[in-house]
Amino acid sequence: TQSRTRTVVMSKINESIDKENPKVVTMVKAKEIEGAKAVYCRCWKSGTFPLCDGAHVKHNKETEDNVGPLIVEK
Ligand code: FES
Repeated sequence: TQSRTRTVVMSKINESIDKENPKVVTMVKAKEIEGAKAVYCRCWKSGTFPLCDGAHVKHNKETEDNVGPLIVEK
């Protein structure tokens, strides 16, 4: 059998959001969510961060990753 070697490259996931802060934390009160649900970005690529704008689709295609949003339902 052929053995496979996988190399994992460690790099920053956050390339552009709130870089002046040592840690990005977002708090949302459930009562502030408009409508029945809110869709939050987990890929750090969204132009509307912390909300998902669908940018994860391009990220997944480019990197073969499998990230998607966090969906909070009221
Ligand atoms: Fe980041 Fe959708 S844009 S999870």
